[in-house]
Amino acid sequence: MTEPGRFIVFEGGEGTGKSTQARLLAAALQRAGREAVLSREPGGPPGAELLRRLLIETPPAGGWEPVSEALLHYAARAEHLNKTIVPALAAGRWVVCDRFADSTEAYQGAGLALAADALQPLRRLVVDDIEPDLVFVLDMDPGAGLARAKRRSANADRYERMDRPFHDRVRAAFQEIARRGGDRYVVVDAAAGVDDVSAAVRSAIERRLGLRLEG
Ligand code: TMP
Repeated sequence: MTEPGRFIVFEGGEGTGKSTQARLLAAALQRAGREAVLSREPGGPPGAELLRRLLIETPPAGGWEPVSEALLHYAARAEHLNKTIVPALAAGRWVVCDRFADSTEAYQGAGLALAADALQPLRRLVVDDIEPDLVFVLDMDPGAGLARAKRRSANADRYERMDRPFHDRVRAAFQEIARRGGDRYVVVDAAAGVDDVSAAVRSAIERRLGLRLEG
């Protein structure tokens, strides 16, 4: 029988190094003989990439209503889950994803002050029981994260341009989600170097999911 696939998510604010860590983990999994699918949200299949452009690169003048924004993120997630994540897990692959549903709670819920009660039905409708096996929350001071993101790209995207209180709410929301989420969540100090964060990730994979990975 095929070993079941595993679903690993990296969450956190801007410039916390999620993409780098997701890439390093996917490579370590491949070296350990696991088939790994590396993906990100919003994004993945063509429809979700189209929505990513609408959300991040070319939003309408005057922006989206917070509720529209949440719906668009969930529309992208429905495409991603049904066309990429679920089939990969069913085939026994490991899915490593840069952001997932907790980002909507943190950015649209806490950041844009959309009521959590409004988001829960969307999560139930779209995600249902396909929740991640493990979520890494990369945590660091938003000022330092934004400075890192700025060094990476001179043109701040629409979320990076939000004010500091927005990013403080996002950070606090991720910390609270991790606290509430119990064993499935691992908070990692993202201000540590790339190698230290990556070692912490591998050690959590071994502890929680029983797979030993080399760096
Ligand atoms: P990133 O690929 O650089 O992380 O960019 C994705 C941006 O989209 C990031 O600023 C966070 C934002 N986002 C939300 O606001 N809500 C969501 O549900 C997701 C997945 C991302």
